Amino acid sequence: MKIGIDKIGFYTPHLYVDMNKLAVARDIEPEKFTIGIGQEKMAISPVTQDAVTLAANAALNILDEQDKEQIDFVIFGTETGIDNSKSAAVYVHHLLGLHPQARAIEVKQACYGATAGIQMAKGHIALNPDSKVLVLGSDIARYGLNSSGEATQGAGAVALVISADPKLLVLEDQSAYLTEDVMDFWRPVYSDKAYVDGKLSNEKYISFFNTVWEQYKAKSGLELKDFAAICYHLPYTKMGLKALRTIMDEGTEADKERLLANYEVSKGYNKIVGNIYTGSLYLSLLSLLEQKDDLAAGSRIGLYSYGSGSVGEFFTGILQEDYRKHLHVEQHTTLLSSRTEVTVAEYEDIFEQTLPIDGSTVELNVDNDPATICVTGITDHMRQYVNKAD
Ligand code: HMG
Repeated sequence: MKIGIDKIGFYTPHLYVDMNKLAVARDIEPEKFTIGIGQEKMAISPVTQDAVTLAANAALNILDEQDKEQIDFVIFGTETGIDNSKSAAVYVHHLLGLHPQARAIEVKQACYGATAGIQMAKGHIALNPDSKVLVLGSDIARYGLNSSGEATQGAGAVALVISADPKLLVLEDQSAYLTEDVMDFWRPVYSDKAYVDGKLSNEKYISFFNTVWEQYKAKSGLELKDFAAICYHLPYTKMGLKALRTIMDEGTEADKERLLANYEVSKGYNKIVGNIYTGSLYLSLLSLLEQKDDLAAGSRIGLYSYGSGSVGEFFTGILQEDYRKHLHVEQHTTLLSSRTEVTVAEYEDIFEQTLPIDGSTVELNVDNDPATICVTGITDHMRQYVNKAD
């Protein structure tokens, strides 16, 4: 049975800060952010959005009535969930009006969560071929104002429909994965900002990639020449390039040229959104599929997922006939081009705005948030949401 990605949706908040201006404000040469890190814009999440609403907005725009009928499993990968007990998937299930005969769970392993969800979804579809699974990857990356990781923040979500006979990408059976206890990045339950050992995280990202790449080749018998493109988890867009360069010598000049050219396209959305943690790899895949119009059906795409802490996985997919007809290029281009720039001072204000944690009631004005699904406030420790389309 062919199982894979049938649809991909994406959402990012309507606000961003320009990386050149952030660099100037931090007394750093802008080229460090735009070339050294490789980021041009960073998405800023207002208090009227959280991991739940970002994910719900990403899914809202791609699901039709038939999907809603067939989805019987919602898997929400996140590391910035809103509750230590109730899963973010249950909120999204309600906000989207999915039918009740469904499972809904949250999965956590840093940026690897959505990949874990996809692999779980494959098993579910193998047993229930008429079902569809909604896999969400949604996060708001926060390291703190003036912190070493500040330039690698971001916010956004991807929504993936996993099904039999998918319209976009059939996931191949072989996969290589690795777990090792590493303290490169973590966020204790009492902190709303991540702690990071930046250098160690870069080293581990690459060494995990090299290990799973070697394992994958041994398992599958495939080589670099068999790949049209490789997409990476992109905490910042220079990171994937560093990993890709470590295997370039395995191919011919033509392989090198093809993979580097496709890498450039695959970082397009990420460099103007920032790190969206669990969704970043799939945002990169979306950039490639939506921004490159001549990738042939039958092409093999490699996918490298890395979640600090750490779990890494390398797996692959084959592009399906007419896949471009099933993308939402215009919707995503408009979403990205209609955003509003905020100043560094405005970004700093927004960054500090949080909901109360003392049980008091706050009502938020969502008129200025163009998203269909928003956080409207909190009361008795319960977040309140609205779907403006209801
Ligand atoms: P840093 O120490 O500020 O930066 O931290 P740097 O000094 O390493 O410089 C960065 C690059 O800019 C270097 O290039 C410099 O040479 C260059 P490289 O040598 O690396 O190729 N540079 C310049 N280039 C042009 N013109 C200039 C200039 N000046 C310097 N004038 C770091 C950077 C990414 C470590 C930091 O931002 C950080 O800690 N970020 C968060 C951690 C992170 O993103 N790690 C990535 C791998 S781990 C991962 O992907 C998992 C994660 O997503 C979390 C999860 O799984 O949930 C993070």
